[in-house]
Amino acid sequence: MAVQPTRIGLAGLAVMGQNLALNIAEKGFPISVYNRTTSKVDETVERAKKEGNLPLYGFHDPESFVKSIQKPRVIIMLVKAGAPVDQTIKTLSAYLEKGDCIVDGGNEWYENTERREKAVAENGFLYLGMGVSGGEEGARNGPSMMPGGSLEAYKNIEDIVLKVAAQVRDSGPCVTYIGKGGSGNFVKMVHNGIEYGDMQLIAEAYDVLKSVGKLSNEELHSVFTDWNKGELESFLIEITADIFGIKDDKGDGHLVDKVLDKTGMKGTGKWTVQQAAELSVPAPTIESSLDARFLSGLKDERVQAAKVFKAGGFGDILTDQTVDKKQLIDDVRKALYASKICSYAQGMNLIRAKSMEKGWGLKLGELARIWKGGCIIRAIFLDRIKQAYDRNAELANLLVDPEFAKEIIERQSAWRRVVCLAINSGISTPGMSASLAYFDSYRRERLPANLVQAQRDYFGAHTYERTDVEGSFHTEWFKIARQSKI
Ligand SMILES: *[C@@H]1O[C@H](CO)[C@@H](O)[C@H](O)[C@H]1NC(C)=O
Repeated sequence: MAVQPTRIGLAGLAVMGQNLALNIAEKGFPISVYNRTTSKVDETVERAKKEGNLPLYGFHDPESFVKSIQKPRVIIMLVKAGAPVDQTIKTLSAYLEKGDCIVDGGNEWYENTERREKAVAENGFLYLGMGVSGGEEGARNGPSMMPGGSLEAYKNIEDIVLKVAAQVRDSGPCVTYIGKGGSGNFVKMVHNGIEYGDMQLIAEAYDVLKSVGKLSNEELHSVFTDWNKGELESFLIEITADIFGIKDDKGDGHLVDKVLDKTGMKGTGKWTVQQAAELSVPAPTIESSLDARFLSGLKDERVQAAKVFKAGGFGDILTDQTVDKKQLIDDVRKALYASKICSYAQGMNLIRAKSMEKGWGLKLGELARIWKGGCIIRAIFLDRIKQAYDRNAELANLLVDPEFAKEIIERQSAWRRVVCLAINSGISTPGMSASLAYFDSYRRERLPANLVQAQRDYFGAHTYERTDVEGSFHTEWFKIARQSKI
């Protein structure tokens, strides 16, 4: 029991919640914690003792929990998105007072946050939807946090989040007030979409190196370790290198080869793709990464399909050409980097489109900055994105930033070689191919869309514009075509 009121409260003590609470306590902010399942409370209190007598106080009932916190109260919830959040708000609201702040730290759909912010305002409570990235480890040692909603609520926790967030040398804590309404959740959602893209691109690099280049796990381990020292340096490349180094404790060989090729997901990637479609923002790399997960889920069908095609003389890999390993590794690295630029360009443009629709005024460069540490997509590369937006906040697309354009030009022939090799070998590289197609479409002044427009006007009288004269035109294509044949 705390003798004096604590600075903040946290409800929802699954591992993320426990770790964030311990992190907050460790930074010197006395914290009250609560969970309906009281064993979770005791477990957290026990950990706080073990991890250095941290100022953390557990409560078994919501009333004494809420009352133990200094006013205006700030309570972070880390519960499952959806109904559990509403339930927790309801439980806590019974004891909260005007001016108190509720912060949802989960991966919530942004519109739910906007609905709740309005609903709790009727009682005079303030509300924040704060995306937290970095997994369990990040929560304990410094996550990246994306708080959006009431600015006044943010001011009440600013001192805490600035200390609790990951700290990056030369660019500060990985947190900033994102903007109004559900903007914090939206930005976190797109962060996760970008994460899907990154993971898919890395998986494709792995597939090409392993299936075509015939690299062993030992070689992959050293390639990824090497890559993590250069332009690709990032959390995801680092953990990938680690994965290739881990032996199976249940048999021979490496664990990665025993893991079933079926990817799970929780929904933020799907939301990102839905939002991209909603806002007419092209996001093919992120979309292909979602489709790749869906396809991976069809494991049983794929096993059957492989049989059908094998019977037809169609093997798994369609080439046995030997490749120059060193050249391939170099090419794949370049293809991965160039593809990544396209993927981030799509994510950033999605955020900008939403920001314009909602009037959020989001600063893309700031987002790149707070993603530099703590979160799953943290990477050296984000600094380049920040610089691009510093050079030009109105940049239409990362691809046309002079620095990125130069990097893409330097890598494009390697990128094409990798995609061609993959296609000829029957290895699908949906993310790299989608990125390349995105680039090739974006950089071309004239696309074959003139023909699609002509078709639309032909069968549906949808009209078309002309390249030479202003206005909207319709042509009796059918009549003219048939007449000229007579
Ligand atoms: C408490 O713990 C249980 C089980 O771990 C969890 O389902 C629940 O959402 C938690 N949160 C609260 C606020 O009770």
